[in-house]
Amino acid sequence: MAFIKAASERLEELNKLREESSLGGGQTRIDQQHAKGKLTARERIDALLDEGTFRELDPFVTHRSTDLGLAERHYLGDAVVTGYGRVNGRLTFVFSQDFTVLGGSVSEVVGEKISKVMDLAAKNGAPIVGLNDSGGARIQEGVTSLAGYGEIILRNVLFSGVIPQISVIMGPTAGGAVYSPSLTDFIFMVNGVGQMYITGPDVIKAATGEEVTHEELGGWMTHFTRTGVAHFASQTEEECLQQVRQLLTFLPQNNGDDPPPVPSPDPAGRTSAELRAIVPEDPSKSYDMKEVIRQIVDNGDFFEVQEGYAQNLIIGYGRMDGKTVGIVAQQPAFLAGVLDIEASTKASRFVRFCDAFNIPLVTLIDVPGFLPGSDQEFRGIIRHGAKLLYAYAEATVPKVSVLIRKAYGGAYIVMSSKHLRGDINLAWPSAEIAVMGPDAAVNVIFREEIRKSENQDETRERLSEEYHDRFANPYVAAGRGYIDDVIDPAETRPRIIDALAMLQNKQETLPPKKHGSIPL
Ligand code: HXC
Repeated sequence: MAFIKAASERLEELNKLREESSLGGGQTRIDQQHAKGKLTARERIDALLDEGTFRELDPFVTHRSTDLGLAERHYLGDAVVTGYGRVNGRLTFVFSQDFTVLGGSVSEVVGEKISKVMDLAAKNGAPIVGLNDSGGARIQEGVTSLAGYGEIILRNVLFSGVIPQISVIMGPTAGGAVYSPSLTDFIFMVNGVGQMYITGPDVIKAATGEEVTHEELGGWMTHFTRTGVAHFASQTEEECLQQVRQLLTFLPQNNGDDPPPVPSPDPAGRTSAELRAIVPEDPSKSYDMKEVIRQIVDNGDFFEVQEGYAQNLIIGYGRMDGKTVGIVAQQPAFLAGVLDIEASTKASRFVRFCDAFNIPLVTLIDVPGFLPGSDQEFRGIIRHGAKLLYAYAEATVPKVSVLIRKAYGGAYIVMSSKHLRGDINLAWPSAEIAVMGPDAAVNVIFREEIRKSENQDETRERLSEEYHDRFANPYVAAGRGYIDDVIDPAETRPRIIDALAMLQNKQETLPPKKHGSIPL
């Protein structure tokens, strides 16, 4: 019976096919990938996941297209490696585009493979990490490859707020292909390795005559510092994938879960006498809010998000008494911590992510107001600033704030205030709450008095001082209950931890609705 294969033969066949599949586009292409200083799709997965935990799915899938030479070019697994494994022992799903196969292009079946692994991630409530390295939609396939992208994008949206979705840009990401990553929660980029843009340099040159390089247009520096598209930037792929692992330690597996506690030797009751001296006596002088953050989080560990963008506002994760908190804070050392368009949109998205994933918000406030000026007005600070009001008002996770120094005008309301359902609002004795700064205030309300006075400067200064004494302190707000307590700065950490413990089982809902209409 020569047509019946022996068991050993079948096994040999399986091993041969597996070997073929694991080589993707073949050794020459792998060597080319390495020559560019890039890891292969599989090497990246190995660097991301706990050692030996990767289980691949669909290694034998091949594309169906026969057009434009594709009938002769079949690659087992096609241009993406998909599967699941563990990150720090926790289930994580992954897809990794394989540039060695037709430039990692997205075919109909690549779309199906990615969609399948995304569905599994959502059904099983675990994060999905996409490692992107692709020339975009497979040109030979036409609309079926676009359909593949469409299916992925649909899932990005449906699973938004359900499971954490992370994108790592490790190669070209051009045209519509940027939109799947841009719908995910966090984007990581590596120096010189990947670029993201809607239209590349050649198209730009043809359309407008403008000359710009790939890296200038859509490299890590551009997206990390100018556009805010990238949340994290690293120098190497290995460093980047370690950062992804670190981020995941702060996040829950899904929206029905809490972030995993990480017990810490740092005592919950630890006080910081250093904080008493951190705010300079002179209100026009600045200080580094990151120092305040380091003093209050467990072991001084703060994992900053979007560090290079809108540096007047700080966002990121830390732990307090072992539990993840999302921190939003002004940075007085950069543009005096003013709220501008960039800071508002940066904070809004972060607040909404934390709210979706049960991460309590700790807000540290020192804000002179929204940034005045025609540039901001013309670019729509009204619409963008409103996003932050919306995000804080809508959030139902525990919200604890500490007013460190200034909170003026609309910026007072927006930053987790009692009026937007802030749960516990604390203030340092240095806190000042007012509609605007004293100098600006007296210029409006005492305009006539100042104009008529003999020495206008002296009058302005006197009135300013009176206004400051009357309003620029935390006690007017504390007298109304808008501030729950005024605290010794040294006790900031224990007081926040205490508030979060009290709020642990907080229940709060929104009026029934399909969804709100956030000013986008
Ligand atoms: C099919 C592709 C491909 C694609 C690259 N390849 N992109 N095959 N469809 N989209 C193939 C190349 O033909 C080549 O195959 C191999 O991959 C490696 O590509 P190279 O060009 O040699 O590599 P490199 O010089 O590094 O350049 C990479 C690149 C370039 C910058 C990505 O290939 C490129 O510009 N590709 C086209 C990008 C693009 O315009 N895509 C469509 C975007 S629109 P061989 O076998 O010849 O070596 C889009 C719509 C999505 O994606 C919509 C979603 C909403």
